[in-house]
Amino acid sequence: MLGLVKAISSRTLAGFLIILTTLFGLTVLYVGESMVKGANNVAVTPRSLAVIMPINNNTDVSFYKNMWVRDHLRTVCDFDGPDCAMSCNEKSTWKTLHRKTVCFTKQIKERFKSTEFFIKMDDDTFIDRDYIDGLIKTYSGYERPVYISDFILNLDGSNPVLNGSYYGNGKFYMFNRQLLDCIDPTIKYRGDRNEDAIFGAMVYNGCGPDVLKIREDDSKIWHKGYTNKNKQINLAYISNY
Ligand SMILES: *[C@@H]1O[C@H](CO)[C@@H](O)[C@H](O)[C@H]1NC(C)=O
Ligand SMILES: *[C@@H]1O[C@H](CO)[C@@H](O)[C@H](O)[C@H]1NC(C)=O
Repeated sequence: MLGLVKAISSRTLAGFLIILTTLFGLTVLYVGESMVKGANNVAVTPRSLAVIMPINNNTDVSFYKNMWVRDHLRTVCDFDGPDCAMSCNEKSTWKTLHRKTVCFTKQIKERFKSTEFFIKMDDDTFIDRDYIDGLIKTYSGYERPVYISDFILNLDGSNPVLNGSYYGNGKFYMFNRQLLDCIDPTIKYRGDRNEDAIFGAMVYNGCGPDVLKIREDDSKIWHKGYTNKNKQINLAYISNY
């Protein structure tokens, strides 16, 4: 009788030890994996973010090459040149900027397949880096299209594809790869239109109501001028458009 009890309890003990060891192993694996995942999310790597900036020959590119956007900067030029990631061969007049927007949208949709986040910024804008790091951490791996902007309603009675859509002021808007996958750069409209409104309409027509709309935090984005404590910088000394 005593022998039987001993046999059962030593078998139970062995079973218990095996379960304990297995659980410990799984915990180590899980913690290790989430540490690796966490490390991937923390850094804003050049692969995960592209900063799209339309420029012309008034643009001081060297200013942005000395900012945190440096490693992410993908300029959109009128003509090909040393600092150009894309050239869209349009005269950069205020009236035809919308064609430049359609052109860079087509290019990044086709070419930047492994980039998860995109910022469109103007050449007179300054953006807080921690703000962007936070957005990237929050929306990394998000499976729906994400559009971060200030959502201006576009009422355009003469263009049904534009009417009723929302767009962001071109100083800054941000979106993810999922949005580029559904965006429709083939929309047809009449007349010269605001380029950022065209972007919003391409989103509206291609992605529909699936888009997660996040309002931008304008306290982290400076446009035309930067003022903080002992700094006051004119970011638009020569008015471009
Ligand atoms: C600026 O670019 C235009 C074309 O957009 C060109 O005709 C002009 O010569 C350029 N000006 C300078 C100063 O490089
Ligand atoms: C444009 O959209 C607005 C709001 O959705 C609507 O009230 C208006 O009738 C539309 N205009 C035209 C010409 O379709």
